[in-house]
Amino acid sequence: MPKVAGKVAVVTGAGAGIGRATAALFAHHGAMVVVTDVDEEGGRATVGRITEAGGQASFSAHDVASEEQWERVLAEAEERFGGIDVLVNNAGIYVIAALADTTLEQWNRLFSINVTGVFLGAKHVAPYLAERGGGSIINLSSVAGLQGTPGHTLYGASKGAVRTMTKDLAAELAGQNIRVNSIHPTYVRTAMADYGAAVAGMTLDELGKRMSPLGRLAEPEDVANVIVFLAGEDSNYLTAAEFLVDGGGTSVLSL
Ligand SMILES: NC(=O)c1ccc[n+]([C@@H]2O[C@H](COP(=O)([O-])OP(=O)(O)OC[C@H]3O[C@@H](n4cnc5c(N)ncnc54)[C@H](O)[C@@H]3O)[C@@H](O)[C@H]2O)c1
Repeated sequence: MPKVAGKVAVVTGAGAGIGRATAALFAHHGAMVVVTDVDEEGGRATVGRITEAGGQASFSAHDVASEEQWERVLAEAEERFGGIDVLVNNAGIYVIAALADTTLEQWNRLFSINVTGVFLGAKHVAPYLAERGGGSIINLSSVAGLQGTPGHTLYGASKGAVRTMTKDLAAELAGQNIRVNSIHPTYVRTAMADYGAAVAGMTLDELGKRMSPLGRLAEPEDVANVIVFLAGEDSNYLTAAEFLVDGGGTSVLSL
């Protein structure tokens, strides 16, 4: 069982998908969860599910691209639960576009969420984690942060930035006993996989067979399990590392 009972975890973008599954798993294992999202309805629904199941959670409206909002959200977390031990930088958006069709506006907007959001989160949470004697930051990158794919110059660059930033943060924050790791999922059964499958002209089942020798997409819970492990004490010696949650697809050729 992951050792996260009594810890306070802030999970961004937890109004849907991987963030929602992660928030639910933290609460299931006895952590207190701050659910943040720009989607207030989705975020409140996540909190509702957790509290109905007997867990502890609160919601903060949050655009991760806004520094002011980070300051408010983290202050709210401390006020509500007495401190912060874990940050999951999960919020992100996905754009697939040919290079010639990718606009500077799309580039700046996606980077403001997928990259600037992670930087701001790490910068502002670090003093809270240090105050507790250390903590864990888990950043959602992607297999797209490791491999090139047509139509992925923008998204892939953002996830590559998250991969390297994770190692820089780990190096800088290790002295405060703050561990920082990145997660690299393949397609996970969320709105993002629906979009990817639609662009590829495939069903979700076909996409799952294409992406992994296991023959299926990842489920949000497959990713949540690794995130919660990285937040708990069983992963105390893991930092600056990258965790593929890809069903082997990045390493195995399907012939
Ligand atoms: N689903 C996949 O196939 C997949 C694969 C690899 C990596 N990822 C990464 O995992 C993370 C979660 O993806 P998901 O599939 O659960 O996505 P999702 O679209 O299901 O959920 C993302 C959540 O983030 C929120 N969000 C969007 N912009 C935000 C902002 N500016 N501030 C705060 N919240 C915001 C959305 O409202 C939504 O609730 C992302 O970083 C994504 O890039 C997903």
